[in-house]
Amino acid sequence: MQKILDLITEQVTDAFVKAGYEEKFAKVTLSNRPDLCEYQCNGAMAAAKAYRKAPIMIAGDVVALLSQNPMFEEASAVNPGFINLKLSPEFLADYLRRMQEDENLSVEKAANPKRIIIDYGGPNVAKPLHVGHLRSAIIGESIKRMGRFLGHEMIGDVHLGDWGLQMGLIIVELKRRKPKLVYFDETYTGEYPEEAPFTIGELEEIYPAASAYSKDHPEYKEEAMQATYLLQHGHRGYQAILKHIMNVSVADLKKNYENLNVTFDLWKGESDAQPYIPAMVDYMKKNGYAYEDQGALVVDVKEETDTKEVPPCMILKSDGASLYTTTDLATIVQRMEDYKPDEILYVVDKRQEMHFIQVFRCARKTKLVGDDTKLTFLGFGTMNGKDGKPFKTREGGVMRLESLLTSINEEMYRKIMDNHEIDPDEARETAKLVGLSAIKYGDLSNQASKDYIFDIDRFTSFEGNTGPYILYTIVRIKSILHKYQEAGKSLEGVKIQAADKMSEKDLMLELSRFNSVMENAFEEIAPHKICSYIYDLANVFNRFYHETKILTEEDSTKQASYIALLLLTRDVLECCIDVLGFSAPERM
Ligand code: ARG
Repeated sequence: MQKILDLITEQVTDAFVKAGYEEKFAKVTLSNRPDLCEYQCNGAMAAAKAYRKAPIMIAGDVVALLSQNPMFEEASAVNPGFINLKLSPEFLADYLRRMQEDENLSVEKAANPKRIIIDYGGPNVAKPLHVGHLRSAIIGESIKRMGRFLGHEMIGDVHLGDWGLQMGLIIVELKRRKPKLVYFDETYTGEYPEEAPFTIGELEEIYPAASAYSKDHPEYKEEAMQATYLLQHGHRGYQAILKHIMNVSVADLKKNYENLNVTFDLWKGESDAQPYIPAMVDYMKKNGYAYEDQGALVVDVKEETDTKEVPPCMILKSDGASLYTTTDLATIVQRMEDYKPDEILYVVDKRQEMHFIQVFRCARKTKLVGDDTKLTFLGFGTMNGKDGKPFKTREGGVMRLESLLTSINEEMYRKIMDNHEIDPDEARETAKLVGLSAIKYGDLSNQASKDYIFDIDRFTSFEGNTGPYILYTIVRIKSILHKYQEAGKSLEGVKIQAADKMSEKDLMLELSRFNSVMENAFEEIAPHKICSYIYDLANVFNRFYHETKILTEEDSTKQASYIALLLLTRDVLECCIDVLGFSAPERM
């Protein structure tokens, strides 16, 4: 459906032209004085210069025409030359009725759908998923859903950190603890066991132990590096261990992401890109892009306009080993080969920005991607604790994602049980939904690039700009709808009628903005814009609710219209939270 602002602009443009002014002056915006009008046009001020006429006279000419137009209840020219507009309630009701019938709630599918690979999550295998990966998962999931809702082909790739020293460390530590394992018998030629020689719990303990130990034991670290090398060069036993690590770790990751309502289309990792490296390196050398500098192989990526230094992109270290940049470049090669995407979007901590500047420039310069493929880096800020420092547990360690979720769910459960009588099992389920809304909304309502303070008390509050407040509003609507049905009335065929009071019209105006908010949020990769929209929508709804006797309304047409408005509000809110990656319970 056409956006309401565009429909209004069409009429205003028409009036400008009919009154003898150029259409470029007919720019309409949402009013910045909602107390005076709903939409406004300031074009008469700009036109004044061009036509050497007082702006108020131009505004007057345009308004004279707009006043005849059934789209507007009121069009007025206000000094020095503003054109203030109020929509006719009939026009607005008609727009919302069409919105209600539209299967996409007025949001148009992209005319030219794009294929976009979104690289998010980025957990490191065998290391516990910690809150540092939380933001990537939450923000990435929401962008993926937004894109899909708008009709784009979104391919989510978790891009596992499954390549590197951590594997070697696990192998040597495992060898130290259980030297008898068949994987370490160099003469063994048979099949390796199906069952992993460790659980996820052990695995998560092994890695930090090995990592800490290696810090002050150089010979141990050397051994781990050697094991990594052997692993990467086909050592059978080590590869069998790697398989176990992957299986155990990925199963655990999937469970964690499931709890976050996050899913990936691809479970590729850094290791999948390795086979592409040799040919890529050859190609870069042959075409003169890469050159040797103190033994290392590099590609220059600095540009004249740089204000800060952008070091050369290192492709191979002097010992021939590849790096994080190499892997990301090879992943681009792989993605281009497999998918030919229109865009690759990376949702990664903003502290990695320089890495991506180098990778993107290098990929462009060496033509790994063509001009028709966009590379985008969405760098997000740090999640801080109340002390303003990166979020830690009370003991000072990095908080594991699982314990974070558990503590939020507990808090929610307690609140729900305190609030009213409810079956404990249902309360548990509800607590999960509300807890997730608290975490996700708490994160997504901030502009992604900014740091934010993770404040459990604030995020779990049922009041204010929080996830639980949004859910509470949805549940309130659902409860009214239930009661309406319990009174023997049907939700089928209820129709929105023209508003006859302010709070009702405000709600309708807010609803009518949905398509433009959604489009704009995706264009700017800004989920926080959806949050601020639903917060406004929930607020206007609640104002309407407090001023209106819905269930006791005697005029049944009027009542049915309220109910229809509630249905649309519920649908828009639920659609938005679905895009944000959480959902509402029936009761809470
Ligand atoms: N595994 C990385 C980390 O934990 C994040 C990966 C981000 N994605 C990428 N293509 N580099 O920091």
